[in-house]
Amino acid sequence: MEEKTGKGKVIVGVSPRAGVGATTTLLNFAYFSPPNMNTIYVDLDILNPGGTDLLELERERNILDYFKDNNTEYIYEVENFSVMPLYLRRAVDMEEYLMQERELSERILSQVEKLRESYDLIFVDTMPGYSYTTIKVWQRFDELIGICDYNVQSISSLLQVRDIFREWFNRGLERYFKGIIVIDTKSNKQVKEKIMREIFENTPIYEIPFTKEFQDSNIISKDDTFYKYSLKNVLKKLGISEEG
Ligand SMILES: Nc1ncnc2c1ncn2[C@@H]1O[C@H](COP(=O)(O)OP(=O)(O)O)[C@@H](O)[C@H]1O
Ligand SMILES: [Mg+2]
Repeated sequence: MEEKTGKGKVIVGVSPRAGVGATTTLLNFAYFSPPNMNTIYVDLDILNPGGTDLLELERERNILDYFKDNNTEYIYEVENFSVMPLYLRRAVDMEEYLMQERELSERILSQVEKLRESYDLIFVDTMPGYSYTTIKVWQRFDELIGICDYNVQSISSLLQVRDIFREWFNRGLERYFKGIIVIDTKSNKQVKEKIMREIFENTPIYEIPFTKEFQDSNIISKDDTFYKYSLKNVLKKLGISEEG
């Protein structure tokens, strides 16, 4: 068994595809998490560090430097939560990263483990369609949350998404998923629901609303009370609430 070094809870966002709203949802979870909790968003989307970009944080260092010196000076305060950004400077960094994937994953994970000492809630954003070896490493955290957006998924791409989840589940990952988040849609809702429910038989599906607020380059939803209410509700179902 892994020794847990601290009390913090790690919630990892996992998605088979890019552009499904993973980063946005995780950032808003961090924003709407209980004010008495010390919360951090960790950008580990190596391919496309959307959180780092959206928040316009430091882009000069690359992941390899970043994990070399174990340095907390890379943590930024944004709104009411902290952010650990990430940026890969050049394609060669990516190549270097992939060549040492297993070793680097281990280093990243111990880094995230260490955050448990100083934070109550740690939201981790990951690269879409993460390789099996890497996902396997995520198993040592508390919650794996699948994210999927019905709005951007045509039926055929939703079928692909379903098949990737199915593949992960067939490899024994199902029990690590605490839930799947879907962003509500107006089109083909019933068909889309049916497709996802086919595989998520034992995993709760949490629906969160589509909000126009993000169309005006907002990253955090501040005015949509239904969106806020829904996100807080999902957090509560994950055991994260003001009282606890
Ligand atoms: N609940 C939502 N309602 C409306 N638009 C959303 C919602 N969540 C995300 N989006 C939009 O979807 C797009 C992709 O979001 P992003 O978080 O970058 O996805 P990912 O991290 O999965 O690549 C962005 O334009 C974002 O504003
Ligand atoms: Mg993203």
